[in-house]
Amino acid sequence: MPYADRTKLAALFAKEVETFKAKHPGSFTRHQKALGPMMGGVPMSWMAKWPGGYPVYVAHAKGSRFTDVDGIEYVDFCLGDTGAMVGHSPDASVAAIAKQLAQGITFMLPTDDATVAAATLAERFGVPKWQFTLTATDANRHILRYARHVTGRSKILVHDYCYHGTVDETFANLDDNGNTVSRQNNIGPQVDPAETTIVVPFNDLDAAERAFATGDVAAALIEPAMTNIGIVLPEPGYLEGLRELATKYGVILIHDETHTLSEGVGGMTARRHLHPDAVVLGKTIGAGIPAGAFGMSEELTKRVSDSIHLEHIDVGGVGGTLAGNALSMAAVAATLTQVLTPEAFERMEALCDVWTTDVQAIIDEYNVPWQVSQLGCRSEYSFRETAPRTGREAADADDFELQQFLHLHALNRGILMTPFHNMALMSPAHTIEDVKRHTEHFREAVVALFA
Ligand SMILES: Cc1ncc(COP(=O)(O)O)c(C=O)c1O
Repeated sequence: MPYADRTKLAALFAKEVETFKAKHPGSFTRHQKALGPMMGGVPMSWMAKWPGGYPVYVAHAKGSRFTDVDGIEYVDFCLGDTGAMVGHSPDASVAAIAKQLAQGITFMLPTDDATVAAATLAERFGVPKWQFTLTATDANRHILRYARHVTGRSKILVHDYCYHGTVDETFANLDDNGNTVSRQNNIGPQVDPAETTIVVPFNDLDAAERAFATGDVAAALIEPAMTNIGIVLPEPGYLEGLRELATKYGVILIHDETHTLSEGVGGMTARRHLHPDAVVLGKTIGAGIPAGAFGMSEELTKRVSDSIHLEHIDVGGVGGTLAGNALSMAAVAATLTQVLTPEAFERMEALCDVWTTDVQAIIDEYNVPWQVSQLGCRSEYSFRETAPRTGREAADADDFELQQFLHLHALNRGILMTPFHNMALMSPAHTIEDVKRHTEHFREAVVALFA
């Protein structure tokens, strides 16, 4: 266990739970009522994972902050786990969404906004041809289908401890002998993921080459930096090496930039001059209105379109009635061009630099065996002394109870962190005061745990 004094931790947590309950009678009453018609009292099972016994109910939100039904205001560093990375309800997105709501929501016909959105993404990522979905999960599912279709190969490669949404083939891990196995707690897999997937550790080019050399791999679906098991950054040459290997073995290289978009308007792909065959996006590109996207190289687009007949285009397993609808496209076009601008990213990253520096300074001051990793406007501390090189190293440093304490400690001081990580995300609306509120909480929590 990364934190040794479990008795102290349990006592500190119990005190925070008491404070939480005293401050949230309104959320408590609503949760009791919600337990009747909903499993776990929540509309989606993950929302039950908040510490304190029940989630806070949101009354309203704007920019970097939201207010709960008990009248408490929070600085939001969770931002819907990236869905609201642009800040809550940015004016430009809201205006475009409201306009489109009044003009028709979905037609199975294109609107001008789709062209604006696609052209913006093509320019920013250097990947020329785009398609739209409702979620990043769907974008991943679709591009994997295309990859298997055009290569005639059956398997995909992913990193150990990856997360790419609820895509069946990705719920796989490496066991202690280096075999691909079903991920622990994988809920009802259709087939054993060992049949569909080869898992390799992050930052391990030899393992990737061994997998590619089997000749079975259609696509490598990767986050250019892992973000869902804590942040795991690529070592110099890793991403370029994967590109070379993918070309050598005819594997389609897909960058899932749903989270790593935190590095800038063109994600890690543009910032680090990378050349994937495909890029996946989602969550925040529509300011929270459901929207996902995948972009493809000219060559991949040609291989796909040459091999699919128009007559069967709607029954092949790629697409969806609401995908690319007018409302999502209005939200994406406005959000990309008016909110997620290069200037906004500059500001977001500068604030995140301060967050990282402050957290690291407190870690150093109290000799705490933790470290911070930053990826543009996203930063995260983990319970280990050095930056993890692989998903496994990051996972081994996890401590659920310690995380629950830290999250509740933050919440009781008006700060929301994502329930799954010690991660903070900056929106264009965040301010230095928001960051300093976190610094204050973090110092107080570290003192309680270590001083
Ligand atoms: C890297 C990555 N890809 C895809 C997804 C799936 O996003 P969604 O749940 O919106 O489909 C996630 C979700 O956390 C993600 O982190």
